[in-house]
Amino acid sequence: MFNVINKIGKSYDLNVALTFEGEVEICEHISAGNRELIKKLIDKKEFTGKKGELLKVDFLEGEYLISMAFLGMGKEDEFSLDIYREVMFDFLSKEKGSILISSDKTILTNYEILGEIVSNVNYSFDSFKEKKAKKLQVELFISGEEKNISETVLLGEATDIARDLVDQPANVINPVTLAQKVVELGAVYGFEVEILDENDIERLDMNLLLAVGRASITKPRLIVMRYLNGKDKNERIGLIGKGLTYDTGGLCIKPADSMFEMKSDMAGAASVIGAMCAIAAGKVERDVIAIVPACENAINENAYRPGDIIKSMNGKTVEIINTDAEGRLALADAITYAVRNEKVTEIVDIATLTGAIMVALGSLTTGVFSNCDEKYNMIEKASEIHGEKVWRMPLFEEYAEQLKSTVADVKHTGGRMGGSVTAAKFLEGFAEGLPWIHMDIAGTSFNSSVKWLKKGATGVGVKALYSYVKNR
Ligand code: BES
Ligand code: MN
Ligand code: ZN
Repeated sequence: MFNVINKIGKSYDLNVALTFEGEVEICEHISAGNRELIKKLIDKKEFTGKKGELLKVDFLEGEYLISMAFLGMGKEDEFSLDIYREVMFDFLSKEKGSILISSDKTILTNYEILGEIVSNVNYSFDSFKEKKAKKLQVELFISGEEKNISETVLLGEATDIARDLVDQPANVINPVTLAQKVVELGAVYGFEVEILDENDIERLDMNLLLAVGRASITKPRLIVMRYLNGKDKNERIGLIGKGLTYDTGGLCIKPADSMFEMKSDMAGAASVIGAMCAIAAGKVERDVIAIVPACENAINENAYRPGDIIKSMNGKTVEIINTDAEGRLALADAITYAVRNEKVTEIVDIATLTGAIMVALGSLTTGVFSNCDEKYNMIEKASEIHGEKVWRMPLFEEYAEQLKSTVADVKHTGGRMGGSVTAAKFLEGFAEGLPWIHMDIAGTSFNSSVKWLKKGATGVGVKALYSYVKNR
């Protein structure tokens, strides 16, 4: 679907030249007559190469019909990689067949980013449709030595794995089937998988996770993925993804409109699963443990209730306020498990945790919380190189006041004000002082407003987590 070539050996449905505004150049391999034709057309159509501007020309070169397009990237001094992403996504989304892209500006032949964009364009969730979307074949011409595109291709594939898991409905993906999928992925991509069932989870005293998943016909699973290929054995990175395969809200039931998208409440899990696939297949030299507390927040006569007091794996008692704040409960026990049983030395959790983060940041930007400036800077950088926008949110100690309980050690919600912060604050209380990052992707995981993503699952976090683990 995407390739980089340094020799042109076949013909394409469309040959695209990327150009900055006012710098349109016509390829010297085109015959003099046709160059003249193209020049005239450029003048007539007043094509200058403004951002997103497109001029298509068809001509005969000998006996071959050539279809060419000039695609504008705007002014060179205003160029950014986000413009590149946006223009390329927009353009490729409207095309079909095989496409050759070239440019005499090296900055416009960024194969890493183009690879990501082609994979975004080609992703479609059509496993339930008779008619499947046709994939675009894109080749990028770069003269000189061959380019190694295995990483961008792998990251595209890993992102697709995450997207597909998120897009799959909850009648297909439940805690048990999700665990099975991870076992299969582990075998293919090369990481070890251990599945703990509800009995194991009970034995481990993970009572918060058990409570959240109790009302579902499919009981919780703790999915543990291990990839231990690090040189530095003092470092073991823990990735934890919220794996709510469906979130009805529980007894504090969600209104129908808000419930509709809740098959995507395991997007954090999907991100760490996708990241593990890429980390293992990319043979990244780190020790990584990924953990997914998988459960369904359903409703039956056995459901956990507001007012219940539950003892967490960590030993703290938690007063349940609202059964729709279930993610932080499942995550809290998963964090304790990671710290105590897997001996991780740092934690990144990623979760569709709060509606409040969407109020704060919309669906463009992931809210990130951290108790460690250095690690925060690392995740910010790792996100930005893949065009994933993040913004740091506060964790001032005063917010913990909102979580004080009169009957237990802690409440799990702190009211409407600062809802995403108090959720993060609750999680921080389980990290046992380790460097910890929390990414709230409630806004960015699904139906994003990012200009180079389709509606539906985005796979946000897969590439960022991969680069976070790799680049240190
Ligand atoms: N899964 C939701 C958060 C969410 C909302 C994700 C919208 C994606 C889109 C989470 O479990 C939840 O329901 N949070 C509650 C917490 C509240 C009850 C304290 C929320 O944000 O309303
Ligand atoms: Mn909820
Ligand atoms: Zn949820």
